[in-house]
Amino acid sequence: MTEKRWLFDLTGRSAVVTGAAGGIGSAVAEAYAAAGAAVLVTDVDGDAAAAVAERISNNGGKADSMALDVRDRAAADAAMARAAGFTEGVLHVIVNNAGVTAPSMFPDTTTESVQRMLDIHLMGAFNCAQAALPFLATDGTGRIINVTSSAGIIGTLGQVNYSAAKAGIIGMTKSLARELARKNILVNALAPLAATPMTTTIRTDERFAPQMLNRIALRRWAEPEEVAGAFVFFASDASSFVTGQVLPVDGGMVI
Ligand SMILES: NC(=O)c1ccc[n+]([C@@H]2O[C@H](COP(=O)([O-])OP(=O)(O)OC[C@H]3O[C@@H](n4cnc5c(N)ncnc54)[C@H](O)[C@@H]3O)[C@@H](O)[C@H]2O)c1
Repeated sequence: MTEKRWLFDLTGRSAVVTGAAGGIGSAVAEAYAAAGAAVLVTDVDGDAAAAVAERISNNGGKADSMALDVRDRAAADAAMARAAGFTEGVLHVIVNNAGVTAPSMFPDTTTESVQRMLDIHLMGAFNCAQAALPFLATDGTGRIINVTSSAGIIGTLGQVNYSAAKAGIIGMTKSLARELARKNILVNALAPLAATPMTTTIRTDERFAPQMLNRIALRRWAEPEEVAGAFVFFASDASSFVTGQVLPVDGGMVI
């Protein structure tokens, strides 16, 4: 008799998390390892990614690290092959989390900054998803998990560049979900909100912090660990009948 798996168990699964040197990405890598997955921690900052992998290993998890700029397709190919090597050449989960912001009001927004947002967020997710595809499991355990933002759903003042890239990720998620359903690969996106280096200014600068807090129904920020559970859901058997969805995990900013 086969033993019944706990719905959120990731034992025997491999995962790549991009932009996982800190913030939400490292919390997701740690949550995946705690759930039993072997995790490749990647970031443009390879040293910081290595420190996260070491922390996971020291806590008894299985992790390795690699420097990966998501704009670099050859490096993405190498990362996916390496992570698949954890589990006999089959990759289970890719989380497209890497990101940056460059806020500016529209008249001051340069084409270069828009292009940079598109390159890192949209093309980065495209590169890593396409690099992962040849390795992704086709037995229902293969997952592409993209990270978007409330900015891409309801818009944000001073973030035309970032919002455009994040909205693009939503369109890509939905089309990929339809296309990859025939391979039994599930594709979803999360729109998180958490206290990370990315949100330091809007959480602490008196010009923005009170208004920002007012937009969150729960009137507080979450630590990255609090949003990581939803990433475990999308990686695990618990979400086996969910695809093409965008889940805000933001204390009720998007309702
Ligand atoms: N923190 C929030 O409230 C929030 C809200 C909405 C969406 N997000 C999204 O969540 C994701 C994680 O954000 P975070 O808050 O943890 O930010 P963060 O700044 O703490 O972490 C982002 C990580 O991405 C890495 N990175 C940047 N450019 C990269 C590149 N080209 N290739 C690979 N790695 C790169 C950085 O080195 C960093 O470690 C991002 O996609 C962000 O847009 C965050």
